[in-house]
Amino acid sequence: MTSLCVVYGAGGHGKVIAEILAACGQKVECFIDDKVSGTEVISLPVYPAAEWLFSHPDGRVALGIGDNVARERAAVRAQQAGCAILTVVHPAAVIARSARIKEGAAIMPGAVLNPDCEIGEGAIINTGAIVEHDVRIGRFAHLSPKSAAGGGAQIGAYAHIGMGASVLPLKRIGARCVIGGGSVVISDIPEHQTAYGIPAKVHSS
Ligand SMILES: CC(C)(COP(=O)(O)OP(=O)(O)OC[C@H]1O[C@@H](n2cnc3c(N)ncnc32)[C@H](O)[C@@H]1OP(=O)(O)O)[C@@H](O)C(=O)NCCC(=O)NCCS
Repeated sequence: MTSLCVVYGAGGHGKVIAEILAACGQKVECFIDDKVSGTEVISLPVYPAAEWLFSHPDGRVALGIGDNVARERAAVRAQQAGCAILTVVHPAAVIARSARIKEGAAIMPGAVLNPDCEIGEGAIINTGAIVEHDVRIGRFAHLSPKSAAGGGAQIGAYAHIGMGASVLPLKRIGARCVIGGGSVVISDIPEHQTAYGIPAKVHSS
């Protein structure tokens, strides 16, 4: 018998992940969530995460949490319970044959992954985002909708690139950075900074 498939996180991102799984022909049993339970989200029941993981060590878990650090925490919990972490790729994403996608990543509709790029564990490539050739996306990072990373750019672990932001080719975004929506990054940004504007400038640490 095939093990059950669930989405960890019943918020907005979780709903999107559930729809992608459905588009892939995958039956989703329920959401599991630490904060919301006993209700329904897009007609699926929501159960408490800890109990569900404990009673389904053979479960398959898709990561449905948008916050980068919380998403990693969920992945660790699910793995510690014995569950498998799903990699979720929408059929309408365009993915080069040489692109590498690591476990737990989510690739949304309209995203483009060009040759020899690498998408780290648990990373999100959101709707219509562009990952150019040779880009490295760190683990549990997030490229928001319509954002773009130019050829050879490096996006650090847990970094969040805002909606519609562009990172020019070969530029490096440090781990845990936040890049504001609509920004254009023309120089390297050190880790743990918030930067925004055109050109993007660091505004806090
Ligand atoms: C950059 C960001 C993190 C800053 O958030 P914040 O620290 O709460 O900043 P505030 O909203 O308090 O704004 C502070 C100042 O920065 C400006 N600012 C904020 N975001 C900006 C952006 N993306 N581009 C240009 N200016 C921006 C504000 O206008 C404000 O200017 P002021 O001081 O002259 O009034 C946030 O605005 C942002 O862009 N987040 C990305 C959201 C996103 O794309 N989510 C995707 C979900 S899928």
